[in-house]
Amino acid sequence: MPPKVVSVGDVVETLRGFESEPFTRDRILDFLSGVEVERASLEPYAHFSPDRYTRNLVHVDDVFELMVLCWQPGQRTPIHSHNGQLGWMVTVRGALAVVEYKYVGCNAPQNQQVSGLDCLAGATEIHLDRGPVHECAPGGPVATVDKTHTIHQVVVQGREPAVSLHLYSRPIESCVAYDLKERRCWRRQLSFHSRYGQVVAEVETPPAAPVPGRRELPVIR
Ligand SMILES: [Fe+2]
Repeated sequence: MPPKVVSVGDVVETLRGFESEPFTRDRILDFLSGVEVERASLEPYAHFSPDRYTRNLVHVDDVFELMVLCWQPGQRTPIHSHNGQLGWMVTVRGALAVVEYKYVGCNAPQNQQVSGLDCLAGATEIHLDRGPVHECAPGGPVATVDKTHTIHQVVVQGREPAVSLHLYSRPIESCVAYDLKERRCWRRQLSFHSRYGQVVAEVETPPAAPVPGRRELPVIR
């Protein structure tokens, strides 16, 4: 059966209707796999920047956050975790690749023993294994993150701009980011380029250089 064409507003309304029961990966995957989101309905959220990919908020409540990400050729996320979130990504325009990673070990594993976060981060010797690469394009399968596949990097493929729709449950304000060259990780504060169609261009704080012997603290608003 061909996918049903819906607006992004219809997607929000349907998801709000799902909130009376737990969001599970497969329940939401079934829904998103059966719809095609009208590109015109995403226009208010399509803001590009030459400096970095942009996160543009469509909706947030206690259960989920929905955002449009806009990518110029060459742009990419850092390698990052999702703090135990479930996530679903639909590529609407262009081509993206999701590169999976798996945590092997680090020199601050005790920082994972913290309430309300996946990890405080702050390791200065981190080991991740590179996993499979998933190619993402319009009409392709919905990409997911879950509790067992939680670390990845998203990279633009080719020379065309890309647009993707990202749904996460529950909302988070920071995550762990990894620098495999320096072998360290830190908590990355997440920000939006626009909220509800209005550009706010919140500036992301670059990570401070690690201070030997100092424990990095999480950034929590
Ligand atoms: Fe991600």
